[in-house]
Amino acid sequence: MTEKSVVEILNSSILSQEIILKGWVRTFRSNRFIALNDGSTIKNIQCVIDFETTPEDTLKRITTGAAITVKGVVVESQGKGQSVEIQVSEIEILGDSNPEEYPIQPKKHSFEFLRENAHLRTRTNTFGAVMRVRSKLSFAVHTYFQENGFNYVNTPIITGSDAEGAGEMFRVTTLHPSKAPLTEDGNIDYSKDFFGKETNLTVSGQLEAEAYAMSLGKAYTFGPTFRAENSNTTRHLAEFWMIEPEVAFMDLDGNMDLAEDFIKSVLKYILKHCQDDLEFLNQRLLDEDKTKPMNDRSEMSLLEKLRFVVDNNFKRVSYTEAIDILRNSTPNKKKKFQYPINEWGADLQSEHERFLVETHFKCPVILYDYPANIKAFYMRLNDDGKTVRAMDVLFPGIGEIVGGSQREERFDVLVAKMKTLGIEEEELWWYLDLRKFGTAVHSGFGLGFERLVQFSTGMSNIRDVIPFPRTPQNAEF
Ligand code: 4AD
Ligand code: MG
Repeated sequence: MTEKSVVEILNSSILSQEIILKGWVRTFRSNRFIALNDGSTIKNIQCVIDFETTPEDTLKRITTGAAITVKGVVVESQGKGQSVEIQVSEIEILGDSNPEEYPIQPKKHSFEFLRENAHLRTRTNTFGAVMRVRSKLSFAVHTYFQENGFNYVNTPIITGSDAEGAGEMFRVTTLHPSKAPLTEDGNIDYSKDFFGKETNLTVSGQLEAEAYAMSLGKAYTFGPTFRAENSNTTRHLAEFWMIEPEVAFMDLDGNMDLAEDFIKSVLKYILKHCQDDLEFLNQRLLDEDKTKPMNDRSEMSLLEKLRFVVDNNFKRVSYTEAIDILRNSTPNKKKKFQYPINEWGADLQSEHERFLVETHFKCPVILYDYPANIKAFYMRLNDDGKTVRAMDVLFPGIGEIVGGSQREERFDVLVAKMKTLGIEEEELWWYLDLRKFGTAVHSGFGLGFERLVQFSTGMSNIRDVIPFPRTPQNAEF
């Protein structure tokens, strides 16, 4: 008798075989039918027990959330919507779940409630599906880069530099007084806490990835990054995972090609490998849509959106062209932009980005050549002296999913830019070395992994696509 998972039972023809199966009870009806889920798939398997031979005490303990083992035979199912079921000969309760206390009852729970129970929420269909898709997307990310000659580089989490120059870092401190440096008056000097230095949690692995691109040719990071931005939006987390490829001898056009090809490739991967989960999530959104007024409903279903992105070219538009479009547009006949675009040089707000993607072009958009003074210090200055070779990929329902650029490879131009922004040369001496020794054109981008998972699963809040979200209100897990 072999142990099997639900997905193995459903995907292989093992009719009339005896198996062992372990999982958690979703529901128990008529003292006979257990819907069992083991996390291997969205699907439950029906386990049919004989209540006459099952001890009373065991029957009482088959409650939602309990962990059980069943032994039995795989048989064809008479029930609707399932091909096979388990005719149970033996059942053992591994872990009880008190129905009075178990928070995840077989009914619809609000996402707010489930966020407070992040340790249990993956026992629901929606969160099980989202997290399996997330896992498959991670694998697809590595597969894409590994198959295309990229080297995976683990960049530091604790760092002395501010890669984005935006001051949105969390400082690293030690809580152990004997290990902390002291100020002259004997207090802990929190500013120099990392063995005498000031350090913070990384906001991006880009600068270090550049060093690896300038030696290994093609590099990528995929790791946690931290931002101390106190923004309570459905698109921001204080801790999120970022994917950052960086390529030597590649210009901005190559960077746009790479971003588009990469995104399409990972979405294709999940369309192929996450069918059951995506179909479930698709249906969930269709049902939700039916409760909304007609003009709030989505034009495309989740699966249609995913296929649309895979099958269509992203529209490439310069910042200057975008500004012209936005100056001459209103989101709809009645409404103006909350922040009207009056002049060239203004930073785009999410309402503008969403207008371009969702209303004007109706497809993913890559905006490029932004004004230098609204972008980071490391971006390559164009010959016009006022724009940089930056790009943002904007997605429907998400807004910015990717930010990237060709990097400033010219030592003098970079030093001058750092000077105007007050970034000390000593702080980034090693980064400047890359421009002193064998410098070359190079480019890369950062893709926020959770925004990709959001797009892939249709979840509207970013807190619902990362296992334990870190936001201004929530860090208790
Ligand atoms: O545009 P950002 O800030 O760019 C960088 O960090 C560059 N160093 C990347 C690079 O060129 N290697 O961030 C990149 C992406 C954004 O487009 C967004 O998808 C995501 O990271 N992101 C966030 N995701 C969740 N929560 C936040 N607070 C995020 N901030 C950025
Ligand atoms: Mg950005």
